[in-house]
Amino acid sequence: MALRHFLDLWQMDAADLRRILDDAQATKRAREGWPKGQVDADAPLAGHTLAMIFEKSSTRTRYSFDMAMRQLGGSAIVTSAGDMQLGRGESIHDTAVVLSNYVDAVMIRANQHSDVEAFAEAASVPVINGLTDRSHPCQIIADLMTLEEHGLELPNTRIAWVGDGNNVCASFIHAAAKFNYSLAIGTPFRYAPDEEDVDLAIEMGANIELYDSAEEAVAGADVVVTDTFVSMGDSDADARLSDLEDFAVTVELMELARPDAVFLHCLPAHRDEEVDAEVIDGPTSLVFEEAENRLHAQKAILKWCLEE
Ligand code: CP
Ligand code: NVA
Repeated sequence: MALRHFLDLWQMDAADLRRILDDAQATKRAREGWPKGQVDADAPLAGHTLAMIFEKSSTRTRYSFDMAMRQLGGSAIVTSAGDMQLGRGESIHDTAVVLSNYVDAVMIRANQHSDVEAFAEAASVPVINGLTDRSHPCQIIADLMTLEEHGLELPNTRIAWVGDGNNVCASFIHAAAKFNYSLAIGTPFRYAPDEEDVDLAIEMGANIELYDSAEEAVAGADVVVTDTFVSMGDSDADARLSDLEDFAVTVELMELARPDAVFLHCLPAHRDEEVDAEVIDGPTSLVFEEAENRLHAQKAILKWCLEE
């Protein structure tokens, strides 16, 4: 069987993605109320080890993948790239070949998306993209799971992304044709998502609308999503904060969405910068359910990567 890398959602089979979402939901339900460190009844990844490499900071991705492996009956080794020879110039190729002989899968959070692709090319075990400058596919599995748990049917759901058309936005674009939700994106022109991503998604059948106003994007939405205005690696924080100011998710902006609309944010969040504290801490916010679901989503992704 070909190696099952989890690099970008547009490359994935829609049926596999559906199976991952269903599995994440079922596995979550099956262990409700259990101690968090208890292994799942079927211990599906017993004897398996995941290596995690971080070139950038992380709270959710790091802890949820580690706990995911524990709950699946396996284990994880977590390293900052700077603590490895990788950080001293050892090649991605050599690192990938060596680690493939020690562990069963590798998750990488990298500055450059092309480095994750190069790692996967050289590895002989599955490689998972734990966020790059270009995308954050694991996040979107947790986000969609959260929306389904809330009772939304994705093909009847209008998601509005506002703010920076960044890596997280890209993964919402990549998944749009796979799950058939409609996606309205509101960004200033300079912060619009990658044109190639949008064109490819539309070619694959996605329903995507681009706006240069937050108000137009949010009108009639079931879900409003944003992310930090300054991502890891962005060096132009001051310009971004002022350019994106009008794209913050305020109480007034939420009022333009449907009356039952919910709010998502991958976290970490900056209250009263990209989102009003009243919104993210209010009754329509699902951000902590979303963060919890990273764990359940990761487990389903790992199982898919490693199933025989
Ligand atoms: N949302 C997310 O990926 O969070 P971390 O950066 O904390 O992993
Ligand atoms: N867009 C953010 C997401 C963090 C999870 C970043 O890349 O820093």
